[in-house]
Amino acid sequence: MGVGGTARVLVSPRSPTELRQALEICHQQSLPVYVLGAGSNVLVRDEGLPAAVFRLPVPGVRALRLRGRRIRVAAGFRLPRLVGRAVALGLSGLEGLAGVPGTLGGAIACNAGTRYRQMGELVEQLTVMTHQGEERILARDELKFGYRESNLDGGIVLEAVLKLTPGSVDRIRREFARILEAKYSSQPVRDRSAGCVFKNPPGHAAGELIERVGLKGKVQGGAQISSRHANFIINRGHASAQDVLTLIDLARQEVRRVLGIELELEIDLWPRNGR
Ligand code: EPU
Repeated sequence: MGVGGTARVLVSPRSPTELRQALEICHQQSLPVYVLGAGSNVLVRDEGLPAAVFRLPVPGVRALRLRGRRIRVAAGFRLPRLVGRAVALGLSGLEGLAGVPGTLGGAIACNAGTRYRQMGELVEQLTVMTHQGEERILARDELKFGYRESNLDGGIVLEAVLKLTPGSVDRIRREFARILEAKYSSQPVRDRSAGCVFKNPPGHAAGELIERVGLKGKVQGGAQISSRHANFIINRGHASAQDVLTLIDLARQEVRRVLGIELELEIDLWPRNGR
């Protein structure tokens, strides 16, 4: 591992033991650790980041074990695939996350959600590894989930037990289709983006505020505030992170200046706080 002020390392541990060993090396080298998931809501500054980026393996089907209404799943499992499996099994809960990209672990860490369902509501137990390499099991009552946040504090999710509700496959499938259709008709799902850029401020929708200050469709270099949904910034081909950041700053400034409302980032901007 080449280490130094600007080290950029991608680590793909194949087991908890390898993960622990890699974390130990990062600790010895004072190298910050970032966990990528599928990268669905991450924006990396153009300078890159002086850190080790961890990407857990995408597990096979055996990584999903069913016991009654409980599903035990490895963190690298892709959320859309998991949602599809649960629907087909007649287990309700995950269909509220129809169309949400990413890994299960990432969705838990940031409590991904829609207006129908937040990921954290379904979590009964987690196995996590701390950055010190300690494996811990967290029960439901030790977990706290807020609006796009959790109390995992950087803990790396290895496995989760989800509690779902048995129901009719037909009904769950219809609900899944309805939520997916609503997402496709209102969001630029086919364009490249990092999802919603800002959290919705209490009592407001960020997309509506950005539209009200006249920035819907605004282009900067290769990036554009989506003309379908103003809380998405899409990459029209060759956007730099700076193009996206310029639009983020502009939206924040204008919403503050014209409407007096503060927008808070929902996307994960790396490096975080200068680290
Ligand atoms: N609106 C506008 N202009 C726009 C976009 C939206 O006026 O350009 C208005 C809509 O007409 C609607 C309101 O804003 O009255 C809310 O919009 P929408 O129904 O699209 O939902 P949202 O609040 O923008 C939230 C989540 C989404 C999630 C959807 C559906 C946040 C920040 N966003 O969006 O989550 O998919 O509900 O459940 O909480 C994400 O987190 O990445 C994300 C996409």
